[in-house]
Formats: sequence, C-alpha cells, structure tokens
Amino acid sequence: MRRAAFVRVTAAGITAAALPPHTARAQANEIVDYVLTARPITFAPAPGVRVDAVAYDGMLPGPVLRVTHGQRVRVRYLNRTGEPTSVHWHGMILPNAMDGVVGITQPAVEPFGSFLYEFTPNPPGTRWYHDHANGSALMRGLFGVFVVEDPHEERADAEFVVVLHDVPQYRSMDAAMNGTSDAPMTDPLGSSEMRAMRPSDRMGDEVAYLAHCINGATYPKTAALPVKVGQRVRLRILNANQTQTRYVRLAGHRLRVTHADGNPLAQPLEVDALRIGVAERYDVWFEVLKPGAWLLQGISSDPLAFEQAVVVHTQGMEQATPEACSESLTGVDVFTYEKAAGVADGPFVDPAARVHKHFVIGGGEYGSGRWTLNGATWPQTEKIAVHPGDGVIVRFTNKTDMDHPMHLHGHVFEIIEIDGRALRRPLAKDVSLVRANGGTLTWHFHANSPPGRWLLHCHNQIHMMGGMMTEVTYAPSWKKIV
Ligand code: C2O
Ligand code: CU
Repeated sequence: MRRAAFVRVTAAGITAAALPPHTARAQANEIVDYVLTARPITFAPAPGVRVDAVAYDGMLPGPVLRVTHGQRVRVRYLNRTGEPTSVHWHGMILPNAMDGVVGITQPAVEPFGSFLYEFTPNPPGTRWYHDHANGSALMRGLFGVFVVEDPHEERADAEFVVVLHDVPQYRSMDAAMNGTSDAPMTDPLGSSEMRAMRPSDRMGDEVAYLAHCINGATYPKTAALPVKVGQRVRLRILNANQTQTRYVRLAGHRLRVTHADGNPLAQPLEVDALRIGVAERYDVWFEVLKPGAWLLQGISSDPLAFEQAVVVHTQGMEQATPEACSESLTGVDVFTYEKAAGVADGPFVDPAARVHKHFVIGGGEYGSGRWTLNGATWPQTEKIAVHPGDGVIVRFTNKTDMDHPMHLHGHVFEIIEIDGRALRRPLAKDVSLVRANGGTLTWHFHANSPPGRWLLHCHNQIHMMGGMMTEVTYAPSWKKIV
C-alpha cells in the first residue's frame, strides 16, 4: 500500500497538542514517503553572521522526519548542492546498503543526482540523519532529527525537538584539519573538559565558531517553546556540533533523563544539566509547575554562548524576562554514564565473547592532523571481523588529552565498563565519550545486524577525517571486500 504522506514538521519542533495526529502518524504497515532536497543556502543566524551553508529543504537543521515504529520509510534524496553528498541514518539498524556511507555502502550521490533510501526505521527513539560523504557538508548544515515514535511509550503533553549546533568559521576547519588551529577551547568552568586540561596542552584541532544556535537561530530570535501549567514536557535534544561537547540546562528545573541516544535508560535519572557529546541525543522530561519563562541554554565559556538559548514559557509569559542559568558548572549535578547506569563494586571482569578488540586512541600532536586507532589512520586501521551472532567486546584506551565521541553504525551497544569499573545497569547507546588522559571504556554488542560493513569512528568530524575510523565487517563477505 502506498501513501504519499508528505510530512513537513518544522525544525523548531512540534507540540503534541498542535499536531493533528493524522499529519505525522500514518498507520503502521504504511509507507511514509519523504522527499529531501539538499541545496546551498545563505545562513544568517545572528547579527553580522552570514555564511554559505547547505541545507535540506532550505531548513537548517533539516526537517524533523517522524514515523511510528513499524512503519516503512522511503526517502527520495535529491542532491542539488553542487558537491557529492549522501544521507546517513544515524542510530538506525538497517540494511547495510541503506547506511549512506560514501565509498563503503554506496557511491556518492553526484551533484544533481538522486538516491532512493528505503528501510523500516529501527529501533524506536530519537535518531538523526546527516551527510556522510567525506566532505564538510555535515558541518555546513546537512543534518536533521529523525524521530521513530514508540507506540507503546507514555505520551508527553507537549514535545519539542531541540537541536544544538554552532556555525563554524570555515577557515578554522582547514587549520583544525592540519592541527594548527589557534581557536580557543570554550568549555565551561567546572566541566570535565576543563579538569582534563594540562598546562602543556595545545589544542590545534579546535574549530572557531561564529554563532551558537538552537533549532537554527540565536537568542533572542530562537522560536520559543510554549508550554502550559500542569504539562509534562518531553525534549528530544541533539548535539549537532561536530567538534564540541555541550552542556545543557533549563533554568528553574531539574531534567528527568529517560533515553540516551534514543534508547530507554534502565532507570530514569534526574539531573540539573546534561553533558552531550558530539552526535549524542538525550530525551528529558520536566513538569511545568507554575507560570513563568525560563531559558533552556547550551552552556560554554565562549563569549557568544549566551546566544545558544531558547525561552520556555507558559501562556501569557511571552514578554517576561526569562530566568537564566549561571555559566559555571561548579556544584551542578551533571548527567554522567556512571550516574545513569550505576557503578558496581569490585574490579571489572571482561565477559566471555567470541570477539575482543582493543583500540588505543591516539594522535593529535600539535601541527599534525593525524588521529589514530592503534597507531594507524583509516584505511590502514585494524578492522573488526565478526560472524553473525558473535558477541563482541570493544575496549578503548584514550591516550590523548581530550574526550572522543566514538560511534558505531548499524548497532546499539551497551557500555559495560568505564575507567576500570563495571556498570551495574545496561546503558544502550550508539555514541560514547571516552575520557581523556588514559580513560577506558568498553562496549558489548551482538553482531545481529544485517551483514555488511559498519563504520566505527570518532564523531568529531576533524578526527574522523584525520583517520580515527575503522569498521566492523561481517563474514563471510568481508574477505572479498577488503
Ligand atoms: Cu553520525 Cu558515521 O555517523
Ligand atoms: Cu575524536
């Protein structure tokens, strides 16, 4: 059965109340058709900031794609950017040929070409989509959120998609690729990034950012999130910055975190602030207990950081001065993997698994653009060969002076160890920050995805392009491909 459900939901998010159920929620078993067109645009999110960007359907971030779990989606992708691009469906388990990785799972969609992606989005949760063609189109705007609604989940009274992203200065991206950038670190006071810094550290890979956006605009131009007293509100938050970790707070509220990278936590966790690595997502809930106006903020020490804010207000409070958060994180209860999953007593013992792989994360010397796994850069990096059904353990040891958001395509893994300590409850994710200066982190997953070549890489775009990438390759075909 074919149905052209031309679903357009703005990047500013939707409220469940404002959205007639039939517009975004087709019946299960139906095919939801989307057409996604990537084009150059001029993006001017802040006074004095005008950049040549690329965007899906003229929107930056791209439109929120939304289906109910079980529905099939067919996305006709039209590349009108003038450069080779593709679309990767981040966090989805799908046929390998639909994964959208140029040079691995498909050829580039050429300028003025098109590609038909068709799959059944799985698992449910807050996923996203972005360019994966080895260029800079992702950093210049080709990304958006993909919500796969779980019909069995409790519905919020209002729901918003919140995308944090920052506008890079393009020249600094080139310098960062060579390891000679002089852009400053902008991590907030009291953050774990600041604590990991040593006096001798020189950060040649930092990108300079010209503007800090929420849903494609800067404060006070950001589109407010209207709520009502008594509502239970759900935010689906994505850090689409491609090099920096972001902290997020909502003034006057604690946040109940229910999902990490779209996957339900074993137990929800209440915190003051999120810490979101590149490409991570968190679903958080809060209750509106009284009338008011509060800022939801991306926290960093960049002097421009105040721009990364959006007002959450009740009816009649549109003009009120919103309550704000401090920019320091000292004494603030921040989400961590350890708090979410709990830490077991005693040392960590590796579980039995057929495949064990250890990667030392290295590189990043000042003046070098090399970022390595076991001393090698892509495509020379060691691959992980698996057979269908294998249990797989991947352990990282980070010898660099910064955290790395390590990501695996086509699978959901569980983090089972951090810095030598076992986690008590499962923490299912597709990106995980591996701590700087000797930090370790271990994934466990089953090779139960469709066979093929699944990338494993640092989601810091500078590091990925600098070589910090490998793949999980399913036998028997991997021998023929490699
Ligand atoms: Cu978000 Cu290789 O992907
Ligand atoms: Cu990295």
